[in-house]
Amino acid sequence: MSDDVKKAIFPAAGLGTRFLPATKASPKEMLPIVDKPMIQYGIEEAIACDISEFIIITGKHKRNIEDHFDYAFELEDKLKKSGKEKLLEEINRLSEINIAYIRQGYALGLGHAILCAKPFVKDEPFAVILSDDIIPSKETLLLDMIKLYRKLKSPILALERVPTHEVNRYGIISGVKERDNVFRINSLVEKPDPENAPSNMAIIGRYILTPDIFDILAKAKPGKGGEIQLTDAINQLLQKRPIYGYLFEGQRYDAGDKLGYLKATVDFALKNKELAKDFGKYLLEVARKLKH
Ligand code: UTP
Repeated sequence: MSDDVKKAIFPAAGLGTRFLPATKASPKEMLPIVDKPMIQYGIEEAIACDISEFIIITGKHKRNIEDHFDYAFELEDKLKKSGKEKLLEEINRLSEINIAYIRQGYALGLGHAILCAKPFVKDEPFAVILSDDIIPSKETLLLDMIKLYRKLKSPILALERVPTHEVNRYGIISGVKERDNVFRINSLVEKPDPENAPSNMAIIGRYILTPDIFDILAKAKPGKGGEIQLTDAINQLLQKRPIYGYLFEGQRYDAGDKLGYLKATVDFALKNKELAKDFGKYLLEVARKLKH
């Protein structure tokens, strides 16, 4: 088994019901934050961690994602002729990324989506990136997790402390702190009621997993919401080997949720050189009107 994390899975076959009707014919992961679809932020994050093999799990909206990362000859020709070199470079860069696509016939849950990647992952550790959790490029979460994996050789889950009233939206862990930001996990519960939650440490959309999860997923029965839950499979894996959580204290946007999506859009627009000044002015005007 390779010791390093070189492969990443991007599950993008969910139904995205919180964003309907926008997600009726297009995956949530293709919704743009300013000028890039969410999944592109995730792919760029993985590239920055030296990950070299990308596996996107698609659902019925497969073409949309494939086209985004494919050559677009007519567009490239037009950009070339109109001298838009920078845009052309950006567009070309996208089509050079080597991505494999696997279709998840039915949206049977995140656990099932990951199981679909088994033939590509084989016997190596791998990252899972849920690209609707947007993490700005200045953060080093995934890289820190990969470094931790190299030391511990155990699965690593990204954790974030969430307000108590939000625990029912996440998988929540109970665990023991081993050292700064590193917790040894005792158990996990999927979307607990706030009264029964073992902590306020939520699993967010970055994982480093080992291939022994596949056998468990292959035998898994539907859990909460009738879906094959990754959390349930990780709970079973816990009976066999240590699993760690890495507590992230940086910035993350839950862009799979409308409010989180809007916050990400505003913050990314304010960091965009072309937009920042005018958009900032506009926001101040809006804020002034809201006060009255
Ligand atoms: P979510 O829990 O966000 O579900 O999935 P969803 O269907 O995308 O969105 P809502 O809750 O209905 O609005 C977490 C991640 O797992 C993927 C999703 O695409 C998302 O990246 N997923 C989920 C799959 O790939 N397949 C599934 O069967 C379920």
